[in-house]
Amino acid sequence: MAGRGGEPGGPKNRGAPWKSTRRFLPVGNSLGDMRMVAVLAVAALLGVSACDAGDDDRPTPSTVEVFTWWAEGGEKAGLDALVSRFGADCPGQRFENGAVAGGAGVNAKQELTRRMTRKDPPDTFQAHAGAELSDYIDAGQVRDLTAYYDAWGLRGVLPAGLVDDLTVRGKIYSIPVNIHRANVVWTNPAVLARAGITATPKDLGAFLGDLAKLKAAGVEAPLAVGRDWTQLMLLEAVLISDLGPARFAGLFTGDTDWSGAAVTRAVADFVRLLSYANSDRDTLDWPQAERLLIDGKSGYQLMGDWAAADLTAKGFPDYGWFTFPGNGATFQWLADSFTLATDAPNVSGTECWLRTVGSAAGQQVFNAAKGSIPARTDVAPAGFAPYQQSAMSDWRSATPVPSCAHGSACAQPWQDALNAALTAYSTRRDARALQADLALAADRFIRR
Ligand code: GAL
Repeated sequence: MAGRGGEPGGPKNRGAPWKSTRRFLPVGNSLGDMRMVAVLAVAALLGVSACDAGDDDRPTPSTVEVFTWWAEGGEKAGLDALVSRFGADCPGQRFENGAVAGGAGVNAKQELTRRMTRKDPPDTFQAHAGAELSDYIDAGQVRDLTAYYDAWGLRGVLPAGLVDDLTVRGKIYSIPVNIHRANVVWTNPAVLARAGITATPKDLGAFLGDLAKLKAAGVEAPLAVGRDWTQLMLLEAVLISDLGPARFAGLFTGDTDWSGAAVTRAVADFVRLLSYANSDRDTLDWPQAERLLIDGKSGYQLMGDWAAADLTAKGFPDYGWFTFPGNGATFQWLADSFTLATDAPNVSGTECWLRTVGSAAGQQVFNAAKGSIPARTDVAPAGFAPYQQSAMSDWRSATPVPSCAHGSACAQPWQDALNAALTAYSTRRDARALQADLALAADRFIRR
């Protein structure tokens, strides 16, 4: 996948040929059991709604607090679009914005934990599909939404692998709104052209060569990089190149050794790439690193495809993009999903929000503005930007691998440990110590 902002896109998305890479959360239940669970869960949820409507004297809430980290640029544009759909779908309900700014939820997740601890949850909160959800589920902080999947016909329109990744001990606790791709390099074509770079690098060696050309042409920070989690994204992309998709996925299931020679090679490549990055990277969130690209101070940024929407929202629609060199036909995916918090004040209003989140119309307007593609496979590509149309096409055919930085591959404590290892690397500059920290984290957090 490679392109420029103005290029036409690909064919209709019918969903990925995707097998779940998650093996540490048992999936199960016969169909009969599932139906029984569904019926009971619907009853339970409707029961809550009825109480919610008032056995006591408390007025029925008509505000749904939606907690995200989508506070600016393309992310806010996506949220705003979803909210306008919610307004149309759910008359009488008002959206309350509980967003806490900070890329990848660095601040929001901490605030959410504080609120959960003092039993003051929002009605619904954003959570990544996959391993990251498991913490909330284990803590009993989210409700079982399995019944909605059956009542709203979601199983038939979502990729089976995604539903599998969302299923924990036979139940599903969130509704996915999108699929984001993590392993994409965004470019400033004018900066590249000035350095005589016209071709898309096919592998890591060629990419390093182009970074050197930019440096020689006077571009101080050829590769724009931000704080810890953005470095983790870069490291993961390099690991995919050096290990291939299957062994990369195995890093999070226990099948691939973090102490092995392939990871040593990947860490060395990662260090080489960082030598072309801005030196203040640990102090920048991703939009600030992206600003280096927009302002022509960098030529490249590895970032998830929320960048597509954000670059457009910030007046830079002529960006270029390509899959991270050496990743081949690998689609590193993550999905944002919404939950119903256990102590949600407004259950019936939140049900309506979730229904909008899972609907084709909701996913169409949200994703068109957010840079991601619909999680549903029945939304037509018309109306999406050229980048998104190419992502839809890739999603149908590429090999999917999950992301640790965005919770589809690993749970929060593991993400935190990897982010800390990368921050420590910035100070120590010791590649062997970095690999040792990565291996230690796997030993601590892998669920066998
Ligand atoms: C991810 C999230 C995306 C986007 C990104 C940057 O974790 O899934 O939707 O918000 O962080 O903030």
